[in-house]
Amino acid sequence: MMKKQLFTIAMGTMMAFTASAQDATVSIRTDNATQKIHKEIYGQFAEHLGTCIYGGLWVGPESPIPNTQGYRNDVLQALRDLQVPVLRWPGGCFADEYHWRDGIGPRSERPKMQNNNWGGTIEDNSFGTHEFLNLCELLGCEPYISGNVGSGTVEEMAKWVEYMTSDGDTPMAKLRRQNGRDKAWKVKYLGVGNESWGCGGNMRPEYYSDLYRRYQTYCRNYDGNQLYKIASGASDYDYNWTRVLMDRVGNQMNGLSLHYYTCSGWDGSKGSALVYDDDEYYWTLGKCLEIEDVIKKHCDIMDEKDPQKRIGLLVDEWGTWWDEEPGTVRGHLYQQNTMRDALVAAISLNVFQRHCDRVRMANIAQIVNVLQSMILTDTKDGGHMVLTPTYHVFRMYTPFQEATYLPLDLKCNEMKVRHEMRKQMDVNKDDGFRRLPLISASAAKTKDGKTVVSLSNVSLDKAQEVALEGISGKSLKGSMLCTADIRAYNDFENPARVAPIEFANSKPGKDISVPTANKKQPLKIDFGKGKNGKMTIQLPPKSIVVFTVE
Ligand code: AHR
Repeated sequence: MMKKQLFTIAMGTMMAFTASAQDATVSIRTDNATQKIHKEIYGQFAEHLGTCIYGGLWVGPESPIPNTQGYRNDVLQALRDLQVPVLRWPGGCFADEYHWRDGIGPRSERPKMQNNNWGGTIEDNSFGTHEFLNLCELLGCEPYISGNVGSGTVEEMAKWVEYMTSDGDTPMAKLRRQNGRDKAWKVKYLGVGNESWGCGGNMRPEYYSDLYRRYQTYCRNYDGNQLYKIASGASDYDYNWTRVLMDRVGNQMNGLSLHYYTCSGWDGSKGSALVYDDDEYYWTLGKCLEIEDVIKKHCDIMDEKDPQKRIGLLVDEWGTWWDEEPGTVRGHLYQQNTMRDALVAAISLNVFQRHCDRVRMANIAQIVNVLQSMILTDTKDGGHMVLTPTYHVFRMYTPFQEATYLPLDLKCNEMKVRHEMRKQMDVNKDDGFRRLPLISASAAKTKDGKTVVSLSNVSLDKAQEVALEGISGKSLKGSMLCTADIRAYNDFENPARVAPIEFANSKPGKDISVPTANKKQPLKIDFGKGKNGKMTIQLPPKSIVVFTVE
């Protein structure tokens, strides 16, 4: 195969192309496919922060905004459509200042507190344990409780577990019954602290390890409830934290968390959600993809102590973190969401799937109105809701939940990216550049025997022709997210600027063409070459495509 090297310098971005007959090949290997993609990889996170809870998920039963027992109807429906598998709560940093007893009993009698982490907002505790666990029941998802180690006691955490999960004649079960809930809830996931190296107590890993061992000892399994205990893990490149916890905590944890955010820099400005140039776009996608290297390095450390992969790595905070939208409340982390965020979501999910032997859960931050949210709401005139580009990606990826991962070999064009302004922020790079493959791909066998494939083209202007091997079938259906402008977003005035287009073949094996804003760059799926397990797909620039074949 003829290959040509081509280098271009554009706005501080050096591009290295490897051109060949096709721009990319994806060879799916169906042999040796045993690894399940845990549905929890599509998990969500809700913190008492800004309007995530109040105004986002919860308006209270007396609200004029249509609601079910206080939960917004519009948001409930959207989240049900998303098949949320797990929801982490109440923080984040908030978790280590949260005292659960303030959030039970009659709402009007609950004490108020100041939310010191997030803008000093007064928290009235009207959304507490019952409101959270009932929401999980309504959504059909697993609750993930993040317990307070930073400012809470061992007794407080132990009693919270008893309150939620004991069905016996125990003091906390009695208290729960007095508060209107007879039957215990099932609570599987329990986080023992959050960011204990930072807002969760500024601890050293050695000290936290001992605290973890002590706290977890008293978190009991009541009446058939089986806790999956999660230690507060590292941020980004802090491999020492993981090493110390693996050495000192080891089998006393079921999971170890990892936090990784994508922004264009931590030096004051994190970058605007809506205003960014092409250079910054590529730079931030490079930063996003660097999560793969970070995951691999944490996994290597875990493998040394736990080769059977008994302990899960849980990326329980991830996503984009941009500057807050101008005009919004400081400290509330409200940001808009463009097609760039959608691509961050898609390529991150592909990374988590690739490492699903160790990555058992991931929780994007956060579910409503905070950071890279699924949903934006307001409470004006009966309330409005908008689904973000990221929401659409999560919905498109639902066939991957609990599917069997199919390993694949990907060859594609790459860019080497550097943002002049951000050079000093380079971490872990020898030459100051980040590598950015233009194509990201993942494949799996669904529970009902179909093959599901996701493909993204991150190029801003070049369609990519992808040859797909190892996949066969006659009927294909899927959806594509693709915008003319990478900065396109949805808001209350224009809620559907970014929306998926669905497609399917009209006859078995028939080719598919889906128009995009640029007439010369449609999505084309060539089933004609689909014989012998080969297909060709032309992916438009800035596109995310997910399809199933049977
Ligand atoms: O998601 C926002 C914050 O980011 C969380 O509260 C904290 O854990 C992290 O630093």
